[in-house]
Amino acid sequence: SEPGLRLLRERVRAFPDFPEPGVLFRDISPLLKDPVAFKTLIDLLEDHVKASFPKIDFIVGLDSRGFLIGPPLAQRLGIGFVPVRKKGKLPGATQSISYSLEYGKAELEIQSDAVEPGQKVVIVDDLLATGGTMCAACELLKRLKAEILECLVVIELKSLKGSEKLSSIPLHSLLQYD
Ligand code: PRP
Ligand code: MG
Repeated sequence: SEPGLRLLRERVRAFPDFPEPGVLFRDISPLLKDPVAFKTLIDLLEDHVKASFPKIDFIVGLDSRGFLIGPPLAQRLGIGFVPVRKKGKLPGATQSISYSLEYGKAELEIQSDAVEPGQKVVIVDDLLATGGTMCAACELLKRLKAEILECLVVIELKSLKGSEKLSSIPLHSLLQYD
């Protein structure tokens, strides 16, 4: 899959100082816009997940860019998709957690009945920076007593050491940047 990964890397743009000074924004819009690259992305994620885990109940995706990747992956795997949303968007009983981001602070929520205790999930997002978002999502799923098999991202910003924040939960990334 080296050519595949090379294509993906070619379809990620960097914007300095967005959304605020000092942040180098990795933009996957060109990747999503190119149907060959987008298919390659989902192919690589599907291959990885199938090779790693014999049984998964759900793909969990994080609001909002994780919603671009999680649902097509879940469809490929023939399993359901569970959204983790920014606060105030989900009806009914929810679990919520506040977290700090590379830029700013926010709150995430999951519906309390989204996952049954013991169900196996892979959590998907576009990018891991400080790991604050992914760590918060893991905490929500732990509260529901889900079994988190892995955190899966397209892009990992290595220098921010987000994987250390996830401690014992494995992380897999397709593309790594300093
Ligand atoms: C971005 C990105 C990840 C998160 C990574 O989302 O999509 O979810 O930041 O940063 P972290 O590892 O430091 O937490 P953002 O909150 O900007 O919102 P969006 O997905 O709705 O665009
Ligand atoms: Mg996000």
